[in-house]
Amino acid sequence: MNVLKESLSHLKPYATLKRNEGIKLDSNEGENYLLQEGIHLDLPFERYPENHAETLKAAIAKTLGVDPAQLLTGNGSSEILEWVIKSVIGPGETILTVEPTFVMYKFYATIHACDYQAIPLNDDFSFPEEAFLKAIDALSPKLIILCSPNNPTGGLIDPDLIRTILQKAPGLVVLDEAYIEFATTQPTFIHDVKDYPNLLVTRTFSKAYGLASIRLGYAVGSRELIEPLTRTKTPYNVNALSQAIGVKAIQKQPHVKTYIKSVIDRRDALKKDLEAYGYHVYPSAANFLFMRSPYEGFIDDVRARGILIRPFPLDEMYVRISIGSESDIAAFKDALKEINHDL
Ligand SMILES: Cc1ncc(COP(=O)(O)O)c(C=O)c1O
Repeated sequence: MNVLKESLSHLKPYATLKRNEGIKLDSNEGENYLLQEGIHLDLPFERYPENHAETLKAAIAKTLGVDPAQLLTGNGSSEILEWVIKSVIGPGETILTVEPTFVMYKFYATIHACDYQAIPLNDDFSFPEEAFLKAIDALSPKLIILCSPNNPTGGLIDPDLIRTILQKAPGLVVLDEAYIEFATTQPTFIHDVKDYPNLLVTRTFSKAYGLASIRLGYAVGSRELIEPLTRTKTPYNVNALSQAIGVKAIQKQPHVKTYIKSVIDRRDALKKDLEAYGYHVYPSAANFLFMRSPYEGFIDDVRARGILIRPFPLDEMYVRISIGSESDIAAFKDALKEINHDL
C-alpha cells in the first residue's frame, strides 16, 4: 500500500550502493584516520544525551573561534538542511539554488512542498552569476542554498559574489560548506555570520574528519538566527556516542590538517594523471574530481576492475571520483592504465 500523500507518491529514495562491493570512490567519504585504535566511551548509556549538545558545542566553538550560542548540531548536516527547510519555508514558498548540486536539497524541498527553483550552472559548471542575481529579483526566494565547493562539480563560488548574494537576499542564505576544508583558495564564511544575520553556514564531520558513520554535522549562524531555529529542533537529535566522538575528533586538529593536505595532494596529482590521458576534468576544491566520461562504458570498465565511481548523467555522462586512500587511488590509477592500454 502506497501510503504517501499524492505529491510524494513518485519520490525516489536517496540511492546508496551496497557496502563492501569494491573500492568505494563513489560517496566522497574520508578515511578512518582519527579513530584507528577504536575508542573507549565511558558514557551513562541509560540516560538521554545532552539535548543541546553543550559539551560538543563548547569544543567546536573553541576550535573554530566562535560562540557556542552561534551553533546548531545535527544528525549529519543533512538533518540541519531539512530542519531549516521545514522551519523556514511554508508550502509553496521558494527555495533558490543551482543545478546540478547536492540532491538532498530538492529531496527535502519536495517532502516539504516547497517551490524549488534551480538555475543551471554555466556550460563549464561555473556559477551562473548573472542569471542567479536576476532570479533573486524575480523570485524573491525565502531561502537560498549555496554549495561551495559544489557537489558534484567541485567548483567554488567567488566570495565577493557570496557577499553580493547575502546583501541582495530577501531571506535566509544557507551556505553548505561540507567540503570547504579541501578548498585551498577560499576561506570559510563561518566568521562572516557577525556581518550577515541572514547567513547560516553548514559543516560536517563526514568528509575532512572521515567520520561519515557517526552522522554529525553543525551549523554556524548569528545568535539571532540560531535562537529561533533551536526552538524547532527534534529533542536529543544527536546521540551521545556521536557527541562524545565529535568532541574527541575536533580536538585532533593537527591530524585533521595532515589528512586534508594528503587528500589535496592526491586530488591534484590524480587530476594531472587524468588530464594526461586526455580526459576533461573540472577544477575541484573538494575531496573528489568531476569529469566528463571519456567514452561510453568507462564507468563499467572501472567497475569491472573492482572500483566504484559515481555516474552523473546530465546532457551527457559525467563521473565523480572520490579521493580515497593512497592505496585506493593507486588501484584506480592501475585500472586507468589497464583501460587505456586496452583501448
Ligand atoms: C554538499 C553536501 N552537503 C551535505 C552533505 C551531507 O553530509 P552529512 O549529512 O553526512 O553531514 C553532503 C554529503 O555528501 C554533501 O555532499
